[in-house]
Amino acid sequence: MTVYAKVIGTGGYLPAEIKTNEDISRTVDTSDSWIFERTGIKSRRIAAKDETASSMAEIAARQAIKMADINPKDINLIIVATGTPDNIYPSTGCMLQHRLGIKECVAFDIQAACSGSIFGLDMANQYIKSGAAKTVLVVGTEICSRIVDWTDRGTCILFGDGAGAVLLQASDEAGLLSTHIHSDGRFEDLLNCPNPQALGKADTASYIMMKGNEVFKVAVNTLGRIVDETLAANNMQKEEIDWLVPHQANSRIIAATAKKLKMSMDQVVLTLEEQGNTSSASVLLAFNEAVRDGRIQRGHVVLLEAFGAGFTWGSALIKY
Ligand code: COA
Repeated sequence: MTVYAKVIGTGGYLPAEIKTNEDISRTVDTSDSWIFERTGIKSRRIAAKDETASSMAEIAARQAIKMADINPKDINLIIVATGTPDNIYPSTGCMLQHRLGIKECVAFDIQAACSGSIFGLDMANQYIKSGAAKTVLVVGTEICSRIVDWTDRGTCILFGDGAGAVLLQASDEAGLLSTHIHSDGRFEDLLNCPNPQALGKADTASYIMMKGNEVFKVAVNTLGRIVDETLAANNMQKEEIDWLVPHQANSRIIAATAKKLKMSMDQVVLTLEEQGNTSSASVLLAFNEAVRDGRIQRGHVVLLEAFGAGFTWGSALIKY
């Protein structure tokens, strides 16, 4: 009997504070129209002072647990994807485990930048299919606002804060159909955020650095290839995909992927306009939104994809 990782719950959390393009244009030389036309973003959420990656992860995770109607103690494995952990160690996964009152499951973090939640889904899939875990919680959580240089108009317009969660459980019903992940470490100079202490530069501030238009070109081409790879691996046609849930980095990148799939934008879940790019949280936040508002229904085939620093990229095809 084939064992699938089936989605049994989703959750999401966005901090209360809204920062609009107008707010940003009061501090750097930009405008609402420039930002919206080039990116599709109008506003993003900013975490409060007392919020952290683990506090946001807890809220998203509890929502997923409630939807799945399981006891947190049934979770065998917690995978947290984050580039903005509360600590270098202990992992945000361990902190989330403690917050959820679970003592015995395995918990750890993975770091794949904006592709983090897809990498997390891939790991969850491997653990469940091999029988090593039955119930796995995957969370993407990010406080990007704390690693953004608010004087750099090339990056500060893009990012936002939030957390998304998904609970997967072993099932004989179809669930995750396939996952595909890739890494290519040659591109550090196009997109990075250094760790000053580890580099022996503790007195330097560290922020996201990006050569936006170069990243843009690689992202469009790479995401086109991952669509082909995913369809071929499942022997599927474009028309069989009901929903595209893309990483929310730029509406023009998303439109290029939708065009490749011959999909109308009505079949694309977009959260970018009001959330910006929440890095590893973005795909799971969008997935959660479309599950909760009823767009994604049981039996629908959903393609999730992401691209991020590393570069890293990947996809997950889910029969919901
Ligand atoms: N407001 C006004 N002008 C801006 C600006 C801003 N916020 N940011 C950049 N500019 C200017 C640049 O200085 C440049 O001016 P110049 O022509 O006088 O030198 C001009 O706009 C064009 O810059 P460019 O970087 O080529 O713009 P772009 O069309 O590529 O848009 C991004 C910039 C960042 C929006 C876009 O490249 C992007 O979204 N890239 C991908 C980002 C991404 O996906 N990152 C995450 C991967 S996870």
